[in-house]
Amino acid sequence: MEATRTTVLCVCCVLFALTDVTCELIHIRSLVHHGIEGRHLLLSVDSRFPVNQAEIQGTWSHTKQNGARTTLVTFTKENNIMDMMYRNHLLFRQPNVSLLILKLKKEDEGYYHLSLNIEFHNKTGLVIKEERTIYVTVDEPVSIPVIEKKPSYAVIEDKANVTWTCSVEKGTRVVFQWFRDNVALSPSKRYHFLQDNSTLFISPVRKEDKGTYRCTATNPVSPIKKSRGAELNVYYGPYNLEVNSVQGLRTGEVFTINPGELVFFECQADSNPPNSYVWISKSRNATQIITEGPRLEVRSYKLAQTEEYLCRAFNNVTKKQDEAQFTLVVASLGTGKEKYTDEGRSVSPLAVIAVCSSFIIGFMLLFLFRRTCHPKRVLMNFYNRPFTEQKRPHRSGHEDATEDFGIYEFVSIPGKMESTQASCRSLARLESVQDMHTTIYDVIRHVPESPSTGLLK
Ligand SMILES: *[C@@H]1O[C@H](CO)[C@@H](O)[C@H](O)[C@H]1NC(C)=O
Ligand SMILES: *[C@@H]1O[C@H](CO)[C@@H](O)[C@H](O)[C@H]1NC(C)=O
Ligand SMILES: *[C@@H]1O[C@H](CO)[C@@H](O)[C@H](O)[C@H]1NC(C)=O
Ligand SMILES: *[C@@H]1O[C@H](CO)[C@@H](O)[C@H](O)[C@H]1NC(C)=O
Ligand SMILES: *[C@@H]1O[C@H](CO)[C@@H](O)[C@H](O)[C@H]1NC(C)=O
Ligand SMILES: *[C@@H]1O[C@H](CO)[C@@H](O)[C@H](O)[C@H]1NC(C)=O
Repeated sequence: MEATRTTVLCVCCVLFALTDVTCELIHIRSLVHHGIEGRHLLLSVDSRFPVNQAEIQGTWSHTKQNGARTTLVTFTKENNIMDMMYRNHLLFRQPNVSLLILKLKKEDEGYYHLSLNIEFHNKTGLVIKEERTIYVTVDEPVSIPVIEKKPSYAVIEDKANVTWTCSVEKGTRVVFQWFRDNVALSPSKRYHFLQDNSTLFISPVRKEDKGTYRCTATNPVSPIKKSRGAELNVYYGPYNLEVNSVQGLRTGEVFTINPGELVFFECQADSNPPNSYVWISKSRNATQIITEGPRLEVRSYKLAQTEEYLCRAFNNVTKKQDEAQFTLVVASLGTGKEKYTDEGRSVSPLAVIAVCSSFIIGFMLLFLFRRTCHPKRVLMNFYNRPFTEQKRPHRSGHEDATEDFGIYEFVSIPGKMESTQASCRSLARLESVQDMHTTIYDVIRHVPESPSTGLLK
């Protein structure tokens, strides 16, 4: 027996030397004990030596958090002396040197120090000293946490702050944690954790804060306890306003439909509470509310008609609104589903071509006419002569008539060939004719009839 013991000790000591692991005669499983208030706590000690072959002597003492130290019990193998103050509170039984604390109280917290002297029977004179310190906490288990929100009503994004509080009726050293939709929350720019995390302050509240909030509470002696979920409702928006056609076509800036085709447009925006929608027509300067609600129904027969539509989404709680505008063009396009990014481009080339060609035609006609005869020059030559010859003509309508002559010249230009030739002939005749006045009147009277009809159709 003694041989084996010594062998054990020697092996142990060799191991200690080699591995630097404490060669212990006593073992304590955990150096920290979390005790529950009101319950017993055993400070258990494993003896790793044959207690019956050794003499032991030792003490258990207690050091409170404030540093006050008390010797609880002094013991030998045969006897123990317990501090009278702890007689009903502690239990110490031989040969086991474990200490049982009955009905833990808050003040039992602190360090428990075991000092043990061991002297083996066959090795008298050699006293081995073993010392251990155990830290004991005494906690009350946590009750189910209760979550609370301030303000209790729904809040408006960016305008309000929200304070969440988590409280427990019972429990010490409670560790709180916050969750939104079962995702743990951590401190951020808008999330402030106060009062040891029992309070979560959100400032300012945003759309993304919407969700179900929950808090958990735990402490060293309790499993995690969850509160019930509480909703945070945040009023926001409208955001991401867009207009879609029910036919499954996303509208761009311009939407083209066939005449008589019935199209639906739907206005959508993210908002809480839901938006109220108004459709506005912006045709010809005047804006006019056509309909309310997200849906717009359009059927138009007027070809080449262009109309501006505007969908306005309004959140009557946040008092914010958003608008989306698009242009509807009625045109025969077969499918009626083509889109034009720029309506102006499709129209302007035609107009430009039309204007240019009419200008060119006009110029050509004018040039042609001027080449065939020069009515103005002829007229002016003629016109100037009578005035120089006849110093004082009858000034009774004759001057006005000659002045009309010039105006007529212009009227006669773009007419039909007959008319231009006629005017040309008559003007050429004028030079030779003696009675100038009558010829002039003739010209005035006759020529305008055919050219004016030619011009104005
Ligand atoms: C010490 O004794 C107590 C009972 O008095 C027992 O519950 C405990 O398990 C013992 N500890 C060891 C290490 O033997
Ligand atoms: C203890 O006993 C063992 C075996 O009986 C012996 O080998 C050992 O030397 C003894 N130790 C001492 C210190 O006498
Ligand atoms: C929200 O909290 C901020 C500070 O974070 C404060 O300045 C502001 O006045 C609070 N707003 C409301 C509506 O209480
Ligand atoms: C509060 O919570 C945060 C995040 O969950 C954590 O990092 C921090 O240690 C906690 N603080 C306390 C005192 O519990
Ligand atoms: C806001 O609009 C909703 C419908 O979108 C309506 O039910 C509610 O009564 C409106 N509230 C106010 C204050 O106008
Ligand atoms: C368009 O509206 C402006 C201002 O409301 C007004 O001055 C202008 O005369 C209007 N134009 C037409 C063509 O109605």
